[in-house]
Amino acid sequence: MCGIVGAVGATECTPFLLSGLRTLEYRGYDSAGLALLDASGALVRARAKGRVSELERRVAEQGVAGRVGIAHTRWATHGVPAERNAHPHVSRGLAVVHNGIIENYAELKQQLQALGYAFTSDTDTETIAHLVQACLAGGNAFADAPAADLFAAVRCAVAHLEGAYALAVVREEEPGCSEEPCLIVAREGSPLMLGVGEQGHYAASDASALLSVTRRMIYLENGDVGRLTREAIELIDGQGQPVAREVVTSSLSADAVELGDYRHYMQKEIFEQPQALGNTLEMLGGAGRLQPGIFGADAEAIFAEVDAVLILACGTSSYAGMTARYWIEQLANLPCSVEIASEYRYRHSVANPRQLVVVISQSGETADTLAALHHAKAMGHTRTLAICNVPESAIVRETALRFITRAGPEIGVASTKAFTTQLAALFLLTLLLAKANGRLSNESANDGVDDSPEQAFLTELRHLPVAVEKLLALEPEIEAWAQRFAHKQHALFLGRGHHYPIALEGTLKLKEISYIHAEAYPAGELKHGPLALVDAEMPVVVIAPNDELLEKLKANMQEVSARGGQLYVFADGCCGFEQGEGVNLIRLPEHYGLLSPVLHVVALQLLAYHVALVKGTDVDKPRNLAKSVTVE
Ligand code: M6R
Repeated sequence: MCGIVGAVGATECTPFLLSGLRTLEYRGYDSAGLALLDASGALVRARAKGRVSELERRVAEQGVAGRVGIAHTRWATHGVPAERNAHPHVSRGLAVVHNGIIENYAELKQQLQALGYAFTSDTDTETIAHLVQACLAGGNAFADAPAADLFAAVRCAVAHLEGAYALAVVREEEPGCSEEPCLIVAREGSPLMLGVGEQGHYAASDASALLSVTRRMIYLENGDVGRLTREAIELIDGQGQPVAREVVTSSLSADAVELGDYRHYMQKEIFEQPQALGNTLEMLGGAGRLQPGIFGADAEAIFAEVDAVLILACGTSSYAGMTARYWIEQLANLPCSVEIASEYRYRHSVANPRQLVVVISQSGETADTLAALHHAKAMGHTRTLAICNVPESAIVRETALRFITRAGPEIGVASTKAFTTQLAALFLLTLLLAKANGRLSNESANDGVDDSPEQAFLTELRHLPVAVEKLLALEPEIEAWAQRFAHKQHALFLGRGHHYPIALEGTLKLKEISYIHAEAYPAGELKHGPLALVDAEMPVVVIAPNDELLEKLKANMQEVSARGGQLYVFADGCCGFEQGEGVNLIRLPEHYGLLSPVLHVVALQLLAYHVALVKGTDVDKPRNLAKSVTVE
């Protein structure tokens, strides 16, 4: 979604602002802009609908340059994608960029219009620009007296805002910064971090945008407002008190966000899965026993108390949760429910305080998941766990327990390596809950060979990166199928048991990047309605692992064949399938027991990727979508 970059330094900052925006492109956006204070201290602005490259062209044309500035990529919420709605928004010599949504903007806008402020956009953000200006002016409903400087004016303005925001503001001839120009930042609900550099100070909504200048970062807390000059950072917390926040050194490497030899980030991320899984499972080392401490210091005590599990997440992360539900109920014998976060947060549910609430999120920023966590806590849930790929994210900071997947930065909008590493984390959680519930024998055999179920599952987990590597070798076969899907309008995906959520994930991947309408069904549901859709034009993708439901699944496949449907079957070895009329078959290298979903989903990721390639869509930045959904 929207992205912010800001800088105040000794050197010309336009190249940094533009390269920061390029780094944030993956988040999804429809327009971009920047505002700088030029050599004379005057505010200059350039904006463009479309790509950052178009903004770069305008910046070059206009010769925009300066040592302090703010920049933004916008993903439309209020008002269509258009240059007039692109940030920064200005009000008499000050400029604002904003991520988030101001919920009371309509009411504020009316009041500001009554004070004579003229609006030129449809955005909620422009309200903030005029509000800061009104605080600087004083003598109105927002401020009795004029604010002393821009820092004070922003503090005054945010006190009137309802909703979520990350803000960066600059103003020409800022009185409080007469020696040095300054950049004012504020955060509530939307992420914002500061960069501590050699040549100056920086701000961004995503750490990756700062890596070209510094690894030393300060993560702002909700309610913080800050003043950045070239020499110093001054922070005031939500209670109006001066506060010092820890400077942390980011472990992100700049290479991790480079495309390298790959054609797309999604392709890179699919092929990074063996490494991502290996990194995520690294903390197991060679240990024959799982330690609850990998989920946090209090995990052992909490796992021993819980009598049920509630999983909250959105999109792909929710499908990881749905897969885990099968594992948790089967191995740990604990009731487990999975709820879409955007529904749960508004539903009147009945809280069970002994339930473990698990929130799953790649980004840790998803507004609905964060709000669902807040809702759960407000309902009295204290046993909370985050499974997340971003250690510094809001979600991770708000739960009692946490497990950080080590997938590395995921840039492609379509989630891939985040999903498989979430599955690995959830399997570890399952084993620990099973242990705590007395369901995994800890007894070693008398001959000294440890063949306990725990040991066997750990061995399978450790082998997972190798198994995924072998699966990736199927790419040419999967690519060959893609041609046949590319001109279809619809597809059905079938799975059973813990492969049903994998069928759902397969359809989400296909929809997101190839724009083909796809629906997933538990195969047994076919004859309860969707069979009516099946004809020779309907490709039916079947996930056919060699498990106890295989014979049932074969019967469901017969139902499709009998209606002329085209089957595309991903089967494990030795399943007794034959390629033939109406049956296309790809054999996976091995059946992988309870962890089989991790392998089958990789095959579906590759299928979606290659179909999108044939269709020529924008794989990494599909239309209308954003990487992190930080607004409701
Ligand atoms: O960052 P999160 O895991 O919380 O994101 C949740 C969904 O927005 C995300 O999984 C989305 O569905 C992806 N685009 C799927 O590929």
